[in-house]
Amino acid sequence: MTQSQKHALIVGASRGLGLGLVETFLARGWRVTATQRRPSPALAGLGSEALRVETADIDDDPGVTALHDRLASERFDLIFVVAGVATLAHDPAHAVPRDVAAQVYLTNAISPIRFAEAFLDRLVPGGSIALMSSILGSVGLNETGGWETYRASKAALNTLARSFEIRHRAENVSVLILHPGWVRTEMGGAEADIDVATSVTGLADVIGAQLGRPGAHYLDYRGETLAW
Ligand SMILES: NC(=O)c1ccc[n+]([C@@H]2O[C@H](COP(=O)([O-])OP(=O)(O)OC[C@H]3O[C@@H](n4cnc5c(N)ncnc54)[C@H](OP(=O)(O)O)[C@@H]3O)[C@@H](O)[C@H]2O)c1
Repeated sequence: MTQSQKHALIVGASRGLGLGLVETFLARGWRVTATQRRPSPALAGLGSEALRVETADIDDDPGVTALHDRLASERFDLIFVVAGVATLAHDPAHAVPRDVAAQVYLTNAISPIRFAEAFLDRLVPGGSIALMSSILGSVGLNETGGWETYRASKAALNTLARSFEIRHRAENVSVLILHPGWVRTEMGGAEADIDVATSVTGLADVIGAQLGRPGAHYLDYRGETLAW
């Protein structure tokens, strides 16, 4: 490791956007610690000396604590919680079983904030916490409806991220709340607007430009500020 080499922790990197972000930051010369829930052949296949793969489920508090302990000697310029779910996203809120709706909220809103809180002590000065939100989390931009429980979970994430930043304002914390575009992944589907490479290239550029900027910033993969 060189002294100037940046280090990213990418959480939820088994596939999709998380995997693409790992590849992109490695290609840009960063060291990357990437997490999976279970062995990911795609992640293992990257086979870089600059990559460390760890296993954790963000919904599992003891597992997150154990990960924090295993990474005790590590410091990160970027801690990016990418993991998310869209279970029964096409059903209206009243038709989604309560336990499913609750789990979407827990995984997409509560768990990322708990992870950020747990790992804030591992962020270097001038680093950023990034949270994968969505434009669907914008209340103001919701003109089309749909994806109701998913939208609500990402709106909750945005609200919790702002409160997290306010709670840590004296520490000048930098929180990037990011929309990756509508992307062709398992979640985004084949009809989505853009491919993973376009999204993660844009996200990495935005992170590079915004790294360490104090405050909470809701931005898309092109660097555009989104309405709350
Ligand atoms: N694709 C889009 O168009 C789009 C648009 C806006 C926002 N997003 C957001 O971008 C993020 C990534 O989406 P994607 O399109 O890459 O989705 P994806 O292909 O479905 O991948 C989801 C990732 O999240 C991981 N994950 C889910 N629950 C987890 C948990 N409890 N603990 C740890 N990891 C967990 C999955 O791991 P496993 O492999 O173990 O399941 C997988 O790596 C999500 O937060 C999503 O809401 C996506």
